[in-house]
Amino acid sequence: MTVAFALRRSRTLLRTTSYSRCYSTPSTVSILGKKYPIDSTTNVTAAIVDKVGRNLYMDPSHPLGILHSLISSHFHDFNSMTGLPPVVTPAQNFDDLGFPPDHPGRAVTDSYYINRDHLLRTHTSAHEVETFARGERKWLLSADVYRRDEIDASHYPVFHQMEGARVFAAGTAGRAELEADNARLAAHLARSPIVIEDVPHLSPTNPAQPAHDPAHAALVAQNLKLSLNALMLTLFGDRAGAGEGVPLRVRWIEAYFPFTSPSYEVEVFFRGKWLEILGCGVVQQQTLDRANVPDNVSWAFGLGLERIAMILFSIPDIRLFWSQDPRFTSQFTAGQITTFKPYSKYPACYKDVSFWLEQNSAGLHDNDFCDLVRDTVGDLAEDVVLIDSFTHPKTNKSSKCYRVNYCSMDRSLSNDEVNAIHARVVTSLVEKFGVEIR
Ligand code: PHE
Repeated sequence: MTVAFALRRSRTLLRTTSYSRCYSTPSTVSILGKKYPIDSTTNVTAAIVDKVGRNLYMDPSHPLGILHSLISSHFHDFNSMTGLPPVVTPAQNFDDLGFPPDHPGRAVTDSYYINRDHLLRTHTSAHEVETFARGERKWLLSADVYRRDEIDASHYPVFHQMEGARVFAAGTAGRAELEADNARLAAHLARSPIVIEDVPHLSPTNPAQPAHDPAHAALVAQNLKLSLNALMLTLFGDRAGAGEGVPLRVRWIEAYFPFTSPSYEVEVFFRGKWLEILGCGVVQQQTLDRANVPDNVSWAFGLGLERIAMILFSIPDIRLFWSQDPRFTSQFTAGQITTFKPYSKYPACYKDVSFWLEQNSAGLHDNDFCDLVRDTVGDLAEDVVLIDSFTHPKTNKSSKCYRVNYCSMDRSLSNDEVNAIHARVVTSLVEKFGVEIR
């Protein structure tokens, strides 16, 4: 798939330019061949749009593809969907799922907006309504998702999620199907080396929805739990490192999502630590009503492929997934979970930048700085930390100091090279945010 920009400036210049803040801005952003007019909401950067269409999870010998195939074959009778375009509306991503108007996920500091009517999906749940509306009853949907975030070893603004859902009829036929499937799954789990720390299916703080019969909702929640416990066995059983004969430990925790109730999070005890694996719950009835399949009940889950792949393949830095270095890519084989062999750790080199923000300026969010760094130096920044922030008591000006740790995954950077790329970050910061370097 192609990603192109409506170019008025040279591509090199655009690469270091956030659309909304450059001086002579292009008037459109082009994603997957479609042009979108920009407006004052636009905050997507060229570095992010460049990632659209890479579809790492579709490569069967990439760790994300290997994990994707493993999960798809676990749910072998679910329809596994891929390749849905990442541009969605705020209605799809938020409103249709019951996100309140003031939910922080909607903020321009947290999500990548193409313009006020379009954003890059922040989760695969954005496709729930359309998928239910197509009449899918057992489905998986995998996709790239986008969130503005800090820079460190486990955060990257593009990552991959897999959503899964199963729909049951609301009446007695649905109840019979649930009871039979729950008995089958419970028998499988009873024979397996797994210890589950459960929470009640329903509780006053994690209730059934008013539209649901609590007994029916409890059966759906139980089916969700049994299905996901079985998935945890497929992914982590025998690999938990606890040793021969030691069962896998899975822990269920009450959670909250605007689009499910009851809701849960699942954690797995892996190599001595509890790790958060996924979020899930019984789908809000309004989602199914909106999809025109009202007489049904469904569960859904969403999991992040990178987080699980980092654990299973022992991949220490999330940037590695994007590496095209054969020393990374050639290590993996379709269908196999193998331990990543680090080829080298190149020296890191940090540089600080301290500055005054313009008086009365709207401020500079940490995510603005991180996007500026990514857009200027790509994956050469290993992490970014705000090391100092204060407001001058007399002038009322605020000051910030960020430390950027530069480290390439593929080669050594010379001090001169780091000085040069850091100078570009500083120049870009002055140009786009009008800061005064201290
Ligand atoms: N979309 C949620 C997230 O990104 C995960 C989720 C999916 C939770 C489906 C419940 C049901 O965190």
